[in-house]
Amino acid sequence: MGGAGNEEKAVVENREWYLAAYAPEGVPTSDHLKLRTVPLSLAVDSIPDRHVIVQNLLISVDPYQRTRLTGLEEGLYFPQFKLNELHHPPIKAKGIHSSLLLQHIQKAEKMGGAGNEEKAVVENREWYLAAYAPEGVPTSDHLKIRTVPLSLAVDSIPDRHVIVQNLLISVDPYQRTRLTGLEEGLYFPQFKLNEAITAFSVGRVIRSTDSNYKEGDLVLNPFSPVAEYYVVPAELLIRKVDPSSGVPLPDFLSSLGVPGFAAWVGIEVLGDPKPGSNVFISAAAGAVGMYAGQLAKLKGCRVIGSTGSDEKVKLIKEEFGYDDAFNYNKETDLDAALSKYFPDGIDVYLDNVGGKMLEAVLNHVNVHARIPVCGMISQYKKIWTEREGVRNLLNIVGKEVRLEGFMVGSYLDRFGDFTKQMQSQIIEGKISSKFKIYHGIESFLESLGSLFTSSNVGKVIIEVNP
Ligand SMILES: NC(=O)c1ccc[n+]([C@@H]2O[C@H](COP(=O)([O-])OP(=O)(O)OC[C@H]3O[C@@H](n4cnc5c(N)ncnc54)[C@H](OP(=O)(O)O)[C@@H]3O)[C@@H](O)[C@H]2O)c1
Repeated sequence: MGGAGNEEKAVVENREWYLAAYAPEGVPTSDHLKLRTVPLSLAVDSIPDRHVIVQNLLISVDPYQRTRLTGLEEGLYFPQFKLNELHHPPIKAKGIHSSLLLQHIQKAEKMGGAGNEEKAVVENREWYLAAYAPEGVPTSDHLKIRTVPLSLAVDSIPDRHVIVQNLLISVDPYQRTRLTGLEEGLYFPQFKLNEAITAFSVGRVIRSTDSNYKEGDLVLNPFSPVAEYYVVPAELLIRKVDPSSGVPLPDFLSSLGVPGFAAWVGIEVLGDPKPGSNVFISAAAGAVGMYAGQLAKLKGCRVIGSTGSDEKVKLIKEEFGYDDAFNYNKETDLDAALSKYFPDGIDVYLDNVGGKMLEAVLNHVNVHARIPVCGMISQYKKIWTEREGVRNLLNIVGKEVRLEGFMVGSYLDRFGDFTKQMQSQIIEGKISSKFKIYHGIESFLESLGSLFTSSNVGKVIIEVNP
């Protein structure tokens, strides 16, 4: 290391104050703010590019800090500090040899635990954002994998936290929109440079300091790092997964997860087709599309899908019950295709792709047609000034069409209704799924790219430990 006074120290016993409990009133006490020791490597090769390690000299103490300890968002409107927030130094695998860390490891080894008895510290691999990608399909210039040692010792985590070993990670188009560095379109917050990117995942609790979770519990996390393991405050896990429910595990990220819910909101809530309605679904062989088609069929509709290959056309007709389907790469005159497949016009269009397909649909809509806009994946790779315009929007006035964008997050009050309906339809064999499973955390970049090159079929999921 070299440098002022740190020649001997590869790892320091770093002391930090953290928030143990909110203090809405009075002067905060040691019940609210506590001091703890967190080993921190000072090795320069233990941190990623564009990071620094800082030794604090002077710390300012200010009245506004009090307002961030109340647990209430009011008054000065500063965001509240988070309970038990664990500062994760972004360490790399190499260069950690200190006796302090060894002590830590030996202590952890004594703890043991489910299936990880031998591993006190794991070489945890995670994907992080190295550079924004405003256009195109993200590459290894933008997303990189790194190894971050993680202690599996139960006493290395604060109260009400769990350590989770990821089993399945969901790969979704919205992740692309969080890599642009631009706040627009789907309005998801951008991932931060040099931080782990996140995904929906199903994982297994391997350590817990929260009474609601025990080792072996299967948990769903909407913001899991795309990593093999992670530590999280238990309150951020949305639910446990019941392995005895009769529903296969990948379905919790698919038919019972975001794609199934998006299809359900689009068809059952917003599209609301009647028996005999003419329903059109784009990206019909993808995760949302396969469920949307099946849900519309169960309502007695005539359902047509568009997708990017002949194999997928065959699949959705044979496996998902679509009445008919076409390959938009072959039938490139979309207007002519829609005239052929919808001689009586379109009553409901679940839009997954936007662009030229949306424009073509607007020439075939019936009066009072509904167009729930789930996504516009054909436009995600372009900055907004390069995206395709839709020239015939005037048709939504003349035909009194309801064109409505939606985000599943706004319909969480209906999640219970959705789960009840979907789960029974899965168990009764009325809804089926197709998965494209990638193997190993290292496959994330390739699996994300597959969504934008049409090389996926059904729901894309990574099995973390194949
Ligand atoms: N609003 C919400 O809350 C919500 C929630 C989940 C998903 N979504 C949206 O729903 C849509 C589908 O998501 P998903 O998870 O089910 O993904 P997916 O359909 O499984 O995968 C994406 C598919 O989009 C198609 N595609 C890619 N580029 C295209 C292009 N340039 N033109 C036409 N089609 C293209 C490809 O299928 P082909 O073979 O057919 O080309 C690809 O397989 C996306 O727009 C997504 O953003 C919205």
